[in-house]
Amino acid sequence: MKDRRIAVLGAGNMGRALLRGMLKANGAKPANVVATTRSRERADALARELGIDAHTDNLKAAAWADVLVLAVKPQILPQILAEIRPAVPAGRLVISIAAGVPTSVIEEALPGASVVRTMPNLPVLVDAGATAYCFGAGADPKDEATVRAIFEAVGTAHKVDEYLMDAVTGLSGTGPMYVFQFIEGLSDAGVKVGLSRDVANALVLQTVLGAAKMAMQTREHPAQLKDRVTSPGGTAITALHSMERSGLRATLIDAVEAATKRSEELGKKASGK
Ligand SMILES: NC(=O)c1ccc[n+]([C@@H]2O[C@H](COP(=O)([O-])OP(=O)(O)OC[C@H]3O[C@@H](n4cnc5c(N)ncnc54)[C@H](OP(=O)(O)O)[C@@H]3O)[C@@H](O)[C@H]2O)c1
Repeated sequence: MKDRRIAVLGAGNMGRALLRGMLKANGAKPANVVATTRSRERADALARELGIDAHTDNLKAAAWADVLVLAVKPQILPQILAEIRPAVPAGRLVISIAAGVPTSVIEEALPGASVVRTMPNLPVLVDAGATAYCFGAGADPKDEATVRAIFEAVGTAHKVDEYLMDAVTGLSGTGPMYVFQFIEGLSDAGVKVGLSRDVANALVLQTVLGAAKMAMQTREHPAQLKDRVTSPGGTAITALHSMERSGLRATLIDAVEAATKRSEELGKKASGK
């Protein structure tokens, strides 16, 4: 990533987070990064904040860079692809984060490009994102290191086959919402049993963080970790019985399945099918 010239086209919430990640220690040099936005003011603000070149000219940015990150909303993407086409030669690495847009659509618009489709999630904003990526039919395997470097600077990166991208969208793309709901619900529960909202929130957040950290560090199966906190006749097994009766696991599976189906529907719309 260090020696490549990278352009992020459409540097909003997600694009800005990726830029910040790239510019961190040992990442890209500010002189090797450019960003575009729709409005001049946003571009100026980004340039001031990150010390990079930022403007509103997608064609100029695309012609200068050797790696393009497409970070505009999916509905804007066809317009951007048409705009930059004259500046994208065969072999150019083009990374898209636009939800639901298949690599085939980008490959058709930019013939010969090495297209990689990604699905990051919102915690890239705090360097704890979970990103899945897949290669288009004409993508160059040598580009994988660059793709990983960009997304690992803001979390983790996992390669999947493209047919699984809707499942990724339903699971980790949509995932922060499930966890926010869970946090809010547990916090409400704390208030119900007599804690102040502030204390309940603080306890829940640290518990979620601690449990995730423990699962990541020990690499134990969640069922084993659950067994570790479930003593005979204790509070955990009593709570678990109640949760099983309410069907928490089936609720989660239903939600992820519904989000995956919705992602498939939106993808069909985006590719005009
Ligand atoms: N948010 C998520 O959780 C998430 C997760 C996975 C994937 N994604 C994908 O990430 C992409 C970006 O989402 P976001 O939440 O970052 O959106 P966002 O904050 O609205 O950012 C979009 C950016 O595109 C810029 N833009 C619009 N038209 C443009 C044009 N013609 N030329 C150059 N720039 C243009 C906007 O500029 P202005 O600021 O000047 O308006 C804005 O900075 C989407 O494709 C989305 O599907 C998002």
